[in-house]
Amino acid sequence: MKRIFSGIQPSGRLHIGNYFGAIKNWLQLQNEYQCIWGIVDYHAITVPYKTDELEERVIDCTASYLAAGLDPEKSILMIQSKVKAHTELTWILNTISPISWLERVPTYKDKSKQFSSNLNMGLLDYPVLMAADVILYKANAVPVGEDQLPHLELCREIVRRFNHIFGKTFPEPKAIIKKGAFVKGLDGKNKMSKSLNNCIYLDENPDDIWEKLSTAVTDPQRVRKTDAGNPEICNIFSLHKLLSSKSQIEYCKVGCQTADIGCLECKKILSENIIQELSPIRARLIELKKNKKYLKEILMNGIEKSRKIAEQTMTEVYDKIGIKYKFLK
Ligand code: AMP
Ligand code: TRP
Repeated sequence: MKRIFSGIQPSGRLHIGNYFGAIKNWLQLQNEYQCIWGIVDYHAITVPYKTDELEERVIDCTASYLAAGLDPEKSILMIQSKVKAHTELTWILNTISPISWLERVPTYKDKSKQFSSNLNMGLLDYPVLMAADVILYKANAVPVGEDQLPHLELCREIVRRFNHIFGKTFPEPKAIIKKGAFVKGLDGKNKMSKSLNNCIYLDENPDDIWEKLSTAVTDPQRVRKTDAGNPEICNIFSLHKLLSSKSQIEYCKVGCQTADIGCLECKKILSENIIQELSPIRARLIELKKNKKYLKEILMNGIEKSRKIAEQTMTEVYDKIGIKYKFLK
């Protein structure tokens, strides 16, 4: 069976960008691949974070995976830092990853501006750790949002280089990109992101969903209700495409273009659909977070299975790179 690895950083509560861009697409893949879903905590610590909040973030992320429908009977759920081979393989990959490749990565360029006063090696090395995450399990495919494509391209380059130098070892993982791969934030400008205040969270309560939507940015050209709007540049309309029925989408599209309906009516329909989609997830999430024993059991089980696969890969890697030292046997 072909294998998948993907992960989310425990850097804040998960939002509907993570849901539509990643987790919702993962649900179907669980039936077609052997899947490993990581909580990638070593990635999360490359930017400033609160040490006393990390555990809560990991718990929240695990509970969100399960609440959104990931099935621990079908998939492996694990924590990156608990399988040491992730960082060990990163070191090995570092030795064949040209710095010039890493400096070209768009997220590094962005972050080096954002964190210019404290630019750490972890930010530069971020994609190498991500490549190690994936190839440690010899994953064939990686389902992610659009923002991760440059990282995956780099991962494939590293794989090609490793295979070329040391002999064929890893498959080249392909990206799986589906509908929802780029969800804009409520500011209508940036990608929805935990680090920006522009999210609807998975456990958002219905009143807050409506409050956030009612002030969200729409088509900036549409100033008055009587102005015709352009749905294709409206952030709210792009969310309709992910959540609403065909007839609702058509109603909002035509209503906006003809100024028959105002933004608030359009938002109200969207709000109800978001509430309907998130309500069961929210209820499960609240329950799951109370049951830490259950979360622990699932993670410990997933970590153990991950370690076994990782160990096999590392044995092969040591052998390929010459760390076999027969005299020590
Ligand atoms: P992160 O929260 O950065 O760890 O992202 C975890 C996963 O969610 C990755 O597959 C991202 O591509 C995806 N993701 C994060 N934000 C968005 C967004 N605004 N739209 C679509 N996908 C996203
Ligand atoms: N970099 C990814 C993000 O920010 C998270 C991630 C880390 C990941 N390792 C991964 C995603 C491996 C897919 C596969 O979204």
